[in-house]
Amino acid sequence: MAKKLFVPGPVDVSEDVAAKMASPMIGHRSKSYADLHARTVEKLKKVMYTSNKVFLGACSGSGWMEAAVINCVAKKALHVVNGAFSQRWFKISKAWGKEAEALEVPLGSAVKPEQVEDKLNSGEYDTLFVTHNETATGAMTPLEGFGKLCADNKVVFCVDAVSSMAGVKIEVDKLGIDVLVTGTQKCFGVAPGLAMTAVSEKALEKSKTIPHRGLYFDFQDYLKKDEKNNTPSTPPIPQIVALDYQLDKILNKEGLENRFKRHREMAEYTREWAKKNWAMFTEDWCSSDTVTCVKNTRNADLEDLKTKLSDKGYVFANGYGDLKGKTFRIAHMGDRTLDELKAYLLAIDQTLGV
Ligand SMILES: Cc1ncc(COP(=O)(O)O)c(C=O)c1O
Repeated sequence: MAKKLFVPGPVDVSEDVAAKMASPMIGHRSKSYADLHARTVEKLKKVMYTSNKVFLGACSGSGWMEAAVINCVAKKALHVVNGAFSQRWFKISKAWGKEAEALEVPLGSAVKPEQVEDKLNSGEYDTLFVTHNETATGAMTPLEGFGKLCADNKVVFCVDAVSSMAGVKIEVDKLGIDVLVTGTQKCFGVAPGLAMTAVSEKALEKSKTIPHRGLYFDFQDYLKKDEKNNTPSTPPIPQIVALDYQLDKILNKEGLENRFKRHREMAEYTREWAKKNWAMFTEDWCSSDTVTCVKNTRNADLEDLKTKLSDKGYVFANGYGDLKGKTFRIAHMGDRTLDELKAYLLAIDQTLGV
């Protein structure tokens, strides 16, 4: 029996969505593919609230994170670092030899626009990197206010929404996000292997000024192929077919607002449970709607708990990186229902005799 995934990605894929991945293969330089590509991108734009270009990549979220660095950093990057995934983005900039600075924010907290205002006004930076939903700490950064600061200072605003897009409303155009990165395997409820990025005109223009953009993640190549509803190299067709189908369900069957509401309700239920039996690791004002990070105040043996929950048919998420053993995470994203979540939290209580 397949175990229920309560890890923050990959998430369980509904049977009908998974079945779409077994559709007969098509060639990617065909009209069938161009049609599939065009309609998938159009639907994605609705979920992202954007009229910017949306590119599909045969990669995980990290691929487009790297692309944002390659295509947008010419002068100096400012990375907000409040957990392992934002740290990874900073490391990508360093690995590419870019000038980069980390603005450290305590784990479990998030950045506010006033914390970056002076830096952005200084003219020293041309890019700002913010992780919307730090999956390692359960901190979700309210994104209002950053876009204007970036626009006023000709800074390219890059946002990682790998673990929040399609579970939380992120209005890309209204927020002034220049590069938004996400992937299929979390809130979209599709198998891993496809990542998506929304790229503004400003970011595309910036990319032209950067001489060495490598080959695989060059925005200019993606732009050229986008005109033909295609990709520079072979796209992950099974995932795109499944995403196309899942987007119809998201937009027309459940509805975006209902989807966001379901995620919020699951988060609220989990936070209440966490506060009753444990403690929240994340500060209240920035607690995530898609993943809850719980402090292990009972000093439970989390690896033992993981084994016992596995025997009951669940996959448990320990804390990430340095937070392993000190925290654990409850994912409530994708097509997960509140009833399934309640059953899982009860299974944790029963296993520990809470
Ligand atoms: C917030 C965040 N950013 C980036 C990543 C990396 O994404 P991927 O594993 O798809 O490369 C993850 C993965 O869990 C994530 O949660």
